[in-house]
Amino acid sequence: MNDTNIQDVWMLEPDLLFLNHGSFGSCPRPVLEAQARRREQMERQPVEFFVRRLGAAYDEARAVVARFLGGEADNLAWVPNATSGINAILRSMDLRPGDELLTTDHEYNACRNVLEFAAARADARVVVAEVPFPLSGPEQAVEAIVERVTSRTRLLLVDHVTSQSALVMPIEALVRELRDRDVEILIDGAHAPGMVPIDLGALDVEYYVGNCHKWLCAPKGAGFLHVRDDRQASVRPAIISHGANSTRTDRSRYLIEFDWMGTADPTAVLCVPDALHFMESLLPGGWPELYSRNRDLALAGRRVLCAALDVPPPCPDEMIGAMASLPLPPGERQLPNSALYADPLQDVLLEKWRIEVPIIPWPASPRRMIRISAQVYNRIEQYERLAEALAKVLASNA
Ligand SMILES: Cc1ncc(COP(=O)(O)O)c(C=O)c1O
Repeated sequence: MNDTNIQDVWMLEPDLLFLNHGSFGSCPRPVLEAQARRREQMERQPVEFFVRRLGAAYDEARAVVARFLGGEADNLAWVPNATSGINAILRSMDLRPGDELLTTDHEYNACRNVLEFAAARADARVVVAEVPFPLSGPEQAVEAIVERVTSRTRLLLVDHVTSQSALVMPIEALVRELRDRDVEILIDGAHAPGMVPIDLGALDVEYYVGNCHKWLCAPKGAGFLHVRDDRQASVRPAIISHGANSTRTDRSRYLIEFDWMGTADPTAVLCVPDALHFMESLLPGGWPELYSRNRDLALAGRRVLCAALDVPPPCPDEMIGAMASLPLPPGERQLPNSALYADPLQDVLLEKWRIEVPIIPWPASPRRMIRISAQVYNRIEQYERLAEALAKVLASNA
């Protein structure tokens, strides 16, 4: 597909410069059309769809997605989103007083809340490793995390790609470091599938949670949980339903329970293979070309912004996937009322310049940050326009 056709398949507002694929993704038209066809089947004969067909349809999608992720289909359960998957794991843990749940200060707020909730119920505690940002390399992140592991650490929750700081974390190195430490690992891959290659088999962690609506561009409502088989017996969905006393023996209790969490629209999940194939078909080199094109664009966009704002890149190129964050210039300090999606600079960029890009409060730094995303529909001129807008708005604030 050429660039013009690629632009056309996304439904993004034509006059909007959209540089925030990372927050919620955006689903291309052909995938939404596939979903509409599935919805029609669902509504034409709901009993046939839910009772007689859904199990097999879930299995088909599971097989395709597990292959893409290098995982095992029997380990892959569907959840509506990453938050639900993380809830299932943490609420299933048999925590004891004094146990420690380790995470980083880059963790996404919603997931940090799940840790706090699970810890509070058991009189356990959340330990937060401070990963510097800016940082000089992945080894700084590994060191900051590993030095907080103690004999009480039960689980490490770490993002594959962090949300605010947009770092690709060195998860393979972390897994190697923790292999003999008796610490379970839960990787929050909300941003990773479709942004960076994943090999769940090689990674071999207890738990990996991912979203399909972000960088795989599936419809919203499609996430997954990949639980190693030696942990499946203890993992229960956050929603208990029919599976809890099912007498079926044709598949694991784990899959039976996650496959039915009450009536909901399963078409987003069923369309994940459509999204995978569609995205793969956009460029002649398929997924590898898409990964490297988006990454190259994120890096190029970052160079443009760094030059315009006169700030150095806060992390090495090797820690960048398809997003990049950088601190705003030194004058742009934290504001008392700045919150995610509620920053005056973000509002001006949207209202005056029609640019959607997040300005991020970052408690660990005195300065706020900007995060750019690079999806296949973005172009370098868009980051140049953002740089021009930022330079003008910041100069007029000065
Ligand atoms: C690192 C990380 N974890 C979890 C989530 C939550 O994803 P969801 O809202 O789809 O559950 C996000 C969302 O952006 C995220 O960036």
